[in-house]
Amino acid sequence: MLRSKGWETEPLSDFKNHASVVPGSDRAQAEPLAGLELDGQNRVASPGADSDGPNRAATTVVQTAYPPAVIQPDTAAGANGSRFVRACLRQPVDRTPVWFLRQAGRYMPEYMAVRKHHSLLDICRTPEIAAEVTITAAERLGVDAAIIFADLLLPLTPMGLDFEFVANEGPQIHTPLRTADQARALRTDRTNDLLYVSHAIEKVAAHFAARPRTESAHPTPDTLGIIGFCGAPFTLASYMIEGGSSRNYIETKKLMYASHPATTPGAPFKAVSSPWVGSAATESAAWSILMDKLITVLTEYAAQQVAAGADVIQVFDSWVGALSPSDYRDYALAPTTTLIRNIQALGVPVIYFGVETASLLPIMRETGCDVLGLDWRTPLDRAWADLNYRVAVQGNLDPITLFAPPEVLYARVAEVLAAAANRPGHIFNLGHGIVPTTPVDAVLSVVQQLKSAR
Ligand code: CP3
Repeated sequence: MLRSKGWETEPLSDFKNHASVVPGSDRAQAEPLAGLELDGQNRVASPGADSDGPNRAATTVVQTAYPPAVIQPDTAAGANGSRFVRACLRQPVDRTPVWFLRQAGRYMPEYMAVRKHHSLLDICRTPEIAAEVTITAAERLGVDAAIIFADLLLPLTPMGLDFEFVANEGPQIHTPLRTADQARALRTDRTNDLLYVSHAIEKVAAHFAARPRTESAHPTPDTLGIIGFCGAPFTLASYMIEGGSSRNYIETKKLMYASHPATTPGAPFKAVSSPWVGSAATESAAWSILMDKLITVLTEYAAQQVAAGADVIQVFDSWVGALSPSDYRDYALAPTTTLIRNIQALGVPVIYFGVETASLLPIMRETGCDVLGLDWRTPLDRAWADLNYRVAVQGNLDPITLFAPPEVLYARVAEVLAAAANRPGHIFNLGHGIVPTTPVDAVLSVVQQLKSAR
């Protein structure tokens, strides 16, 4: 059995046996996604969907060259009974679904107990433990969705960039990517090395599928949604290029701007050759090669996760707020749109999340994502109205209000709910991840408040 002796991890010896009965991963492996192309004309929106141009807000059937076997009817249709997936699709729900960014993390004593014995990467790469951490956090909090325990940076390894997490300093990529040749050398043929994430998802899915249901033939609204995730091209590229976290994204933007210097509309293109832009001309291919390779790997990685049982994929563009609206449009919108459309073609909704995105939200919506994650600086009511309610929204409590006195926290949660005004398509969450030292009781009280709200 997968579950559960609290956070004490079981011996891992039976993992291979579990893995061998997993159908999805083999399938994903057997059917590469190269050449996957979407044609908006070929989409057939499901009943209740609002097919308003790019915002296709429901599960769709997409007829493409993509093999239909990868679309999981059990996942896509069955999970529509869960209030979380229904909210992603802007369908009516009995109450606002809730989950928390970084809900399984260092604020939780149970997670820290596991961390004592295992590194972060060991946890991610060992499906038994990753599943255990995922399930225990979701059940302890009583939330409506379980996000698979993994890390944004895992795809860097099969692409050929080694990295480590250095205590108190965050991730460090050993040889940051700075040239077109390095981008050319990135591997896109080893994404199966990431199947450990899918194996963990299979275990989480098996655990929640085994839960008693009140109606045997159909999932109840209490069925948990399972969230898989990956990084967005810009945010992952920023780690690859900067070599870790960054304040000003100078190297990232240098590579990005070198790809095609923007010109005033109508003005003739002028090659840039100033000494201070250095290698701009020679490196002009780097950004597009990198974007293409990230799209290939991330699409396949997401497909593995969907095949394993992820009901929804969240695309983290955590640091895209570093871009101005015109830079977002010129350099990030197209690759992100391709990735999101590719994932939607697998038959699942996509949540697209970034931080400090107030000025970017209307353009981010053009990706066609089903749900936009809002950070806490953005008033939810204004932002949603500006988006004409044509996309679901997720958010957006300031994670630091979890440190406030109970009555302040209560008022802030009520504020978020009032801003959403019970419109279909709101998923309650924080505006960014739970930080270490957050009191678990505060998180639990938010869930309690959500559950008694209506
Ligand atoms: O909710 C959950 O279950 C958490 C799962 C999760 C992790 N990373 C595990 C993790 C998720 C969703 C991520 C995504 C991730 N990873 C993001 C995007 C999320 C966001 O907040 O916007 C980013 C930017 C990363 C890269 C990353 N991983 C950094 C920069 C760091 C170091 C910073 C830090 O908080 O220490 C990590 C480490 C990391 N990934 C931790 C966890 C729980 C904390 C470190 C640890 O446990 O040792």
